[in-house]
Amino acid sequence: MIYDEKDGRVVLNMKALVIGASGQIGAMTVKDLVDSYKADVVAADLDLDKVKQVAKATNPNRVTPVKLDATDGKAMAKALKRVDVVLNSAWYELNMSIMNAAIKAGVHYTDLGGFYDGTLKQLKLTKKAEDAGVTCVLGIGSTPGITNVCGAAGANKLDSVDSISIYCTWGTKQKATKAGMPAYSIRTVLDEMTQKPGIVDKGRKIRVPIMSGETSVVMPEPSGKVTAHYIKHSEPATMADFIGKGTKHVSFRIGFPDVDLATFKTLAELGFSSEKELNVGGCKCSPKDYITAMYTDAVSSARHSKEIVDEYDYLRTDVTGKKDRLPARCTFFVSTWNDRKTGLSSARDTAVPPSITANWLADGKIDKRGVLPPEACIDPEPFFKELGKRKIMVDEQLQVSSKYYR
Ligand SMILES: NC(=O)c1ccc[n+]([C@@H]2O[C@H](COP(=O)([O-])OP(=O)(O)OC[C@H]3O[C@@H](n4cnc5c(N)ncnc54)[C@H](OP(=O)(O)O)[C@@H]3O)[C@@H](O)[C@H]2O)c1
Repeated sequence: MIYDEKDGRVVLNMKALVIGASGQIGAMTVKDLVDSYKADVVAADLDLDKVKQVAKATNPNRVTPVKLDATDGKAMAKALKRVDVVLNSAWYELNMSIMNAAIKAGVHYTDLGGFYDGTLKQLKLTKKAEDAGVTCVLGIGSTPGITNVCGAAGANKLDSVDSISIYCTWGTKQKATKAGMPAYSIRTVLDEMTQKPGIVDKGRKIRVPIMSGETSVVMPEPSGKVTAHYIKHSEPATMADFIGKGTKHVSFRIGFPDVDLATFKTLAELGFSSEKELNVGGCKCSPKDYITAMYTDAVSSARHSKEIVDEYDYLRTDVTGKKDRLPARCTFFVSTWNDRKTGLSSARDTAVPPSITANWLADGKIDKRGVLPPEACIDPEPFFKELGKRKIMVDEQLQVSSKYYR
C-alpha cells in the first residue's frame, strides 16, 4: 500500500506487466496505470529502445522497461512471477499463448480482443482459469470493451432484449487531405478488410460478407450521419450468450472516414494482408510484416511529434427490447477527443479500460473467476465514472413507450 499525496487516500500498490508496451495502445496504458493508480509497471516489448522511451516519457521510477518476446514461454514465466496482473496490448494473434502463460502462473489477465474466432477459442479455457483462481477479461478496450459494458448496462434497464447494435467512427475536425493513418494496429485493419465478420442473427451466430450490412447511423457532431458496414469484431462472439435476456441480434459496424476506407481498401487489394514471404533483394519478409514494421516505426516517431491534430473518436451502442411489455431502447454514446496532455483519443479510449480493469482485478473489485468478456464481469456505472475522470464521456439515453388506449 502507498499513500496518495493529493487526497490522502491509501492506494493499492499494484504490480502490472504490460506486453506490447511501446505500441500505440500499450504505451498509453502504461501511462494510465502510473498516473491513475501509481502502479509499478514492467513495460515489455520486442524492442528495448522503444520501450525505454516509453519509461522515460512516463515515469522512470515506476516503469521498468524490459525486452520480452511474448512467444518465449520461459521468459514469460519469469516476467509473470513478479506481478499481480498482465495486460496484453500486443497483437491479438498472441492472445492464446499469453493467456495460457498467465493462467499457468496464477496471474490475472486482460486483452484487447480476440477478433471473434480467437475469442471463442479463449473462452474454452474458462474452467482452467477458474481452477487456477484467475480472471481473464477478454476484449477490454474501446470496442470491444466499453461497448460490451454499454450492452450490459442497456440490458439492465430493459425486461427483455431483442437486439444490440454497435457502431464506431473517428476522424478529424479539419477535412482530411492526407491518406488515412490507422488509429490502431495495421495488422488488425488489414484482417478486418479481408476476413468475414460474424454476427448474431435470429439467435444464431452466422458469417456475413465483408463490409456488408450497409446502414446510415447518426453519431455525435462533427461526425453526424455516417455510413457503416459490418466488419469482423469480437462483440457478436460473446454478447448474446453472456447478456442473455433473449438477445436475438448482435452486430458490429464500422463507419470508416472516407479517406481511411480508401487507403485501407487499396492496401488490402494490393495484397498487404498476405503473410506469404517474398524475397526482396535477398531478404525474406511477408507484405504484412513489412507494412507492420513501417507502421510501428511511424507510431513510435509520431509520439514525439509536436503536431497536434484535432481528432475525435465515437462509439454508439443501441440496445432494443421491451420494458413493461412495451418497446424500449437504451442508447449509449461514448466520445473522446484528443488531449494535448494525454495524447490521441483513439489510444486513450482503448488504453484506459484495461488499466481500470487491472486495478479492479488487483484490488478484488472483480471477483468472478474464469475467462470472461467485459459484459460478464464489469460493473457499468462505476466503470463509466472512471472513464469520465479521463474525459472519456459516456452518455445514456433511455427511450420507453407509453400507450393510453388499453
Ligand atoms: N478493443 C479495442 O478497442 C481495440 C482498439 C484498437 C486496437 N485493438 C487491438 O489492440 C492490439 C494492439 O494494437 P496497437 O494499435 O497498439 O498495435 P501496435 O501499435 O502494432 O502495437 C503492438 C505492440 O506489440 C508488440 N509485439 C508484437 N509482437 C510481440 C511479441 N511477440 N512480444 C512482445 N511484444 C510484441 C509490437 O512490438 P514491435 O513494434 O517491437 O514489433 C508493438 O509494440 C491489436 O491487436 C489491435 O487490434 C483493440
